[in-house]
Amino acid sequence: MRLMWLRVVALLVSLVVVMASSCTAREPEQAPVLDDNPGITSATDKDPDPGVFEMDLVAKVATVELTPGKKTAAWTYNGTVPGPFIDVAVGTRLVIHFKNELPQATTIHWHGLRLPNSMDGALVVQNPVMPGGTFEYSFVVRDPGLFWFHPHHRSDTQIERGLYGVIRVRGPGEPRVDHEHVLVLDDVRLQADGALPPDLDDYAQLPLDLKLHGRWSDTLLVNGRTDRSLVVQSGAIHRFRLLNTANLRYFNLTVRGHTFRVIGTDGSLFEKPYEATHILIGPSERYDALLIPNGAVGKELPLTSDAFERAEDDAPQPAVTVLKMKIGSSVSGRALPDTLPGVAIPRIPVPAGEPTLIEFDQGTQGGPEGYTLPPEEHDPIVGKDGDPIFVINKKAGGDIPPIEVKLGETRAFKIHNVSHQIHVFHLHGFFFQIVDSDDLFDPVKKPFALRRELMAQAQKDSVTVRSGFSVTVVARFDEEPGRWMYHCHIPEHSERGMMSEIRVVK
Ligand code: C2O
Ligand code: CU
Repeated sequence: MRLMWLRVVALLVSLVVVMASSCTAREPEQAPVLDDNPGITSATDKDPDPGVFEMDLVAKVATVELTPGKKTAAWTYNGTVPGPFIDVAVGTRLVIHFKNELPQATTIHWHGLRLPNSMDGALVVQNPVMPGGTFEYSFVVRDPGLFWFHPHHRSDTQIERGLYGVIRVRGPGEPRVDHEHVLVLDDVRLQADGALPPDLDDYAQLPLDLKLHGRWSDTLLVNGRTDRSLVVQSGAIHRFRLLNTANLRYFNLTVRGHTFRVIGTDGSLFEKPYEATHILIGPSERYDALLIPNGAVGKELPLTSDAFERAEDDAPQPAVTVLKMKIGSSVSGRALPDTLPGVAIPRIPVPAGEPTLIEFDQGTQGGPEGYTLPPEEHDPIVGKDGDPIFVINKKAGGDIPPIEVKLGETRAFKIHNVSHQIHVFHLHGFFFQIVDSDDLFDPVKKPFALRRELMAQAQKDSVTVRSGFSVTVVARFDEEPGRWMYHCHIPEHSERGMMSEIRVVK
């Protein structure tokens, strides 16, 4: 009898525990979709508390197979490229016990996430984690979307060597879909034997063309491999979460005979999704797009990156297949959503007066403009006279005066690219909204220019500014005081001068 009562009590206790945890668990609001992220390794959460995601993250050299049959000694997070996939709901605390087992100092920047300044991974807010060293990153993820993490020290070489990982944050208002795929797009320069090139250790050996434009190659990676493939379902809604981690390469994605429904970007879903035959995604950007494949079972539907001309003085990118897709089965009766209710982000009012000018230009070390790369505290990339230097308002790196804004202030910035290269403006710690540009999309005349739909509703952390054009953005510096970097996200540019900071002061 007594035993039975104990059992009843135990049962009641466990019921209460289950009920309590199902109340506090921050689960997505809808039935799980079929998640097919080829080759992506999921991170495991060490903490049973559903509100906390805790993991060990080790940066280390590991042998990986990026292309079949070839071994590459990559720099990795936990031994894989991409690193472990962190998949959480809005409101989760991430606790990352980081250890650096690389032969070089590093940090982790949590790209796109709003977090306390001390957790941002920039060298102005933390000392680099030396070889053998550790650091604990801990912060709450506040916004839904696809984000990523990568080093903020020698990011030109460290990201190229394989140091990047993805964070997917689910929020309310996610669309109903049948299948979902995270695709991390990259390119990598491999030697014939699969090894990474020696110029990663020695900037002097990097060809001038790549010093000028950034590292790129024709070896494309999807989720860390050259030969990924995906089986899709005709008639079903597939959701593609796209991230470009390449240093320079743009992906101009299309599926012939199909139209994407673009439902979001870096830090926002769109209340009014738009249709696009092509999605142009620059370094560090993310796009979120739906597609209903159509065709008979067995039909091949490659995901292609169409030709793209980055800049006049740069070799155009030819069209290439990014991912083999094939129809494996079919369903019917699905329709793409025309609206996503409740996800709209209020537009930030543009403050009166002239925007703060951020002028991107390129010069030459020791050249007539007199540009020099100021000595930085940690490992500057020492070039020789004649090497390119990238400048903001005619100054490089630590010589650029920080932009000071008051906590709570709204500020507009006009990013003007007067150089012959393409650049990607990226801001840490705050989203921005695009309010103006002289480079607007036209399907025939300007297929690579900025989509107006982004101006109307996007919240972004990275935006392309093409040679000769400008983009004006607005941000509200409402919460986290501190030192927040802004820079070009082509790391060959940022590590050679095109990086400075916004100081948010009380
Ligand atoms: Cu993804 Cu400061 O960078
Ligand atoms: Cu750039």
